[in-house]
Amino acid sequence: MSSPGRFITFEGIDGAGKTTHVDALEQRWRAAGHDVVRTREPGGTPLAEKLRSLVLHDAMDAMTEALLVFAARRDHLQQVIEPALARGAWVLCDRFTDATFAYQGGGRGFDTVVLSTLEQWVQANRQPDLTVLFDLPPAVAAARLVAARQPDRFEAQDQAFFERVRSAYLARQAAQPHRFAVIQADQSPEHVASQVHAALAAKGLA
Ligand code: TYD
Repeated sequence: MSSPGRFITFEGIDGAGKTTHVDALEQRWRAAGHDVVRTREPGGTPLAEKLRSLVLHDAMDAMTEALLVFAARRDHLQQVIEPALARGAWVLCDRFTDATFAYQGGGRGFDTVVLSTLEQWVQANRQPDLTVLFDLPPAVAAARLVAARQPDRFEAQDQAFFERVRSAYLARQAAQPHRFAVIQADQSPEHVASQVHAALAAKGLA
């Protein structure tokens, strides 16, 4: 599905530090005069934000979790992402379907064949133009999260869970390497920022 806009997603395990870098890109692209839509998943619409709150805080099994994140994604695509891309906006989305393969598939062990079916149903051919994956060892990410607020249902998981999430992200990247830029996120913020800049420049998005 081609459209005049650009669809860029940001992924990584909890504590990878992506938000700081997405903030910086948002500011830079706004300053350069682009029509920028900054959004997130699960969430991005009033309905999807309600579903986010359920997924992050209410006990449920892995299938329910997967169905709710895809329900939120459907609403988000229809209400926000597709219209923005159609008018030529640059959409910066904090997490998207790779997170479902990583967390529900890798972390929870839910069937990835079912996830692929849901992906096709919900998205048709829509995929990000670029996915920036912040990769780092879970032990480093966990140390960064120690001082953070009250953990949600994912942040409260153990290191083995995040090892599986990380592996599932890297498996998605290996299957679709053209779409991904992998950032070594266990470096200084300056070094991470320069890797992000180089990855975007390589795609003509700097
Ligand atoms: P996150 O994006 O880290 O937001 P914050 O920075 O506010 O904590 O939190 C979203 C959580 O939702 C994260 O732990 C990953 C999880 N998640 C899934 O399990 N599946 C999904 O499909 C998506 C998009 C997110």
